[in-house]
Amino acid sequence: MGRIQDRTVADLAGREETLRAALDPSRMPRHIAVIMDGNGRWAELRGLPRLEGHRVGREALRRALEGARECGVEVLTLYAFSTENWRRPRDEVEALMTLMVEAAKEEALDLQQNGVRFRASGLLDAMPPGVQAAIAQVVALTQRNTQITLNLALNYGGRSEITEAARRLARDVVEGRLTVADIDERAFERRLFAPDLPDPDLLIRTGGEHRLSNFLLWQAAYAELYFTDIHWPDFRKLDLFEAIRRFQTRTRRFGGVDLG
Ligand code: IPE
Ligand code: IPE
Ligand code: MG
Repeated sequence: MGRIQDRTVADLAGREETLRAALDPSRMPRHIAVIMDGNGRWAELRGLPRLEGHRVGREALRRALEGARECGVEVLTLYAFSTENWRRPRDEVEALMTLMVEAAKEEALDLQQNGVRFRASGLLDAMPPGVQAAIAQVVALTQRNTQITLNLALNYGGRSEITEAARRLARDVVEGRLTVADIDERAFERRLFAPDLPDPDLLIRTGGEHRLSNFLLWQAAYAELYFTDIHWPDFRKLDLFEAIRRFQTRTRRFGGVDLG
């Protein structure tokens, strides 16, 4: 049994490496955003509590980060908790919060050692104080890292982000820092949660649903979309590399024409 498993693991690593090596380094997405969906269904299919899916999903997160780093991707944004996820049963929400604190504490050193700059975007002030503190610690510890930025979308909603940007604009006008005529796309973008990050080039959703669920509504205007039925806990580097391979076959026109 052990031997068969070892061989499968080695096979997978070999296939991953082959696929990664075949990717075109000059056409890598700078920013990949992922809707990590399907944790609950992964667990339910196995007769396990939904929380087990979230727990195992942490390993998928680690693999995705490693794969993105190996490809030279600059930013990986992961949708971890939406502004609508508060609608879930209280025990699931609480378990998710506990899991986030545990993950932040346990992964901090590895993130630091792997050159990962950790960030979070969303309505963080409305998160439980324990989560806020754990996040702030990892952000501070990793702020000087430059290999890759891991941006965790936490209590994130595209609509609330846009509304917040509108509020910031209005305040700047009222307080005389800006005139109405100054309001353009750049001025708006500068007031979003992470104005220094490039727009996502590739947006992946696992778990089989074909929707955005309020993710990066502004920033995904020209993202290439990639949907897979794989549940997030099953997501492997191979799946990330396959998504990038497909991305590299697409023609991005940004409204223009392809001049070949
Ligand atoms: C995504 O998995 C994780 C979060 C939203 C926190 P789900 O928990 O939505 O899993 P499904 O979609 O119910 O399978
Ligand atoms: C999107 O998944 C949010 C995250 C992955 C954090 P959901 O499971 O909440 O989305 P819906 O409810 O299926 O649209
Ligand atoms: Mg879901």
